[in-house]
Amino acid sequence: MPENTDLIKTLNKTLATASDFYINLKVAHWNVEDINFASVHAKFDEIWETTGTTVDVIAELIRQLEGQVRGTSLDITANTELQPYNSDLSSSQDNIDAILEDAKVLQTSLKTSYLAAVDVQEYVVNNSLLNEATIRFWCP
Ligand SMILES: [Fe+2]
Repeated sequence: MPENTDLIKTLNKTLATASDFYINLKVAHWNVEDINFASVHAKFDEIWETTGTTVDVIAELIRQLEGQVRGTSLDITANTELQPYNSDLSSSQDNIDAILEDAKVLQTSLKTSYLAAVDVQEYVVNNSLLNEATIRFWCP
């Protein structure tokens, strides 16, 4: 049983939210189909790559804190803070709006997790990749 049970739960919730966002970005990337297709399609993929790194950083911090990573599809479904993504959307604007809505939720979740982690394990967090630079990307 890890020492920081509440913190691990909080981090796993953020992990699920970031993982869900990661999947939603691909869905938006695939479904977008209007005149702005090329730029929006590429932008969603660019954010998707950064999100993948963020997901990994959260999972590695959970392990550093001796927690168990809850990252299966069932864990994501059970713990995500995002609303279900509407995969019927096909216009650039609709997908951008939906992705921005998700990004706001993820920003809040990351900030909550970061502050909770710094509070409990400042040294570990500041030596992990879930540092202020990562947070700044999501919460400018
Ligand atoms: Fe692609």
